[in-house]
Amino acid sequence: MVEPERDPPTLLASPADLQAVAARVGAEITADHPDGVVLVGVLKGGVPFLADLSRQVRVPVDIDMVAVAPYDGARGRTRVVKDLDLDVRGRPVVLVTGIVDTGLTSDFLLRHLAEREPSSLALCGLADKRARRLLPVPVTYAGLQPPDRFLLGYGLDFAGRYRNLPGLWAAESSALAEDPDRYLALLYAAVR
Ligand code: IMP
Ligand code: MG
Repeated sequence: MVEPERDPPTLLASPADLQAVAARVGAEITADHPDGVVLVGVLKGGVPFLADLSRQVRVPVDIDMVAVAPYDGARGRTRVVKDLDLDVRGRPVVLVTGIVDTGLTSDFLLRHLAEREPSSLALCGLADKRARRLLPVPVTYAGLQPPDRFLLGYGLDFAGRYRNLPGLWAAESSALAEDPDRYLALLYAAVR
């Protein structure tokens, strides 16, 4: 059994580290898209990264958002609950997500966006968690390659909690599954 006192969450990336990640990835996207790009963020976890990243992309950007229902492992599928507003046909698109874990969600969204016939389509993930990958989705722009722990903060949640922590933390998923609130006091005290 995981004891939270012995296995406390650790800070993977400070706010300054995350700004540096956004600057590096933004420069990569800028270099690859001299004529501009459509950034498509994945709600909700991709929002803080999209906000920081978009300001580091130094070519004209259009922003759109998509949202999917949580992946239904039993039925082996998910569905779009908020679709694109823009017509991206013939335009370069980068899908910006908070985390690529098994890859199921990103794979689904890439297929969905490909149906709109963009001129190019790439995936950008703040966290590229390769250890648990089930589908070989190409993460063209990877912010961080974290260890195989549960990530919290900077948009990433457990059961809706912890999203607004300014840094990115790694915690034990078994401890969170026992009690989703377990690290609230600890982590919000750490950022005051
Ligand atoms: P997938 O397994 O690549 O389909 O990831 C699906 C979704 O699981 C992500 O978009 C996140 O919402 C969530 N997720 C997976 N791993 C983590 C994590 O470590 N922290 C927070 N959310 C996660
Ligand atoms: Mg989530």
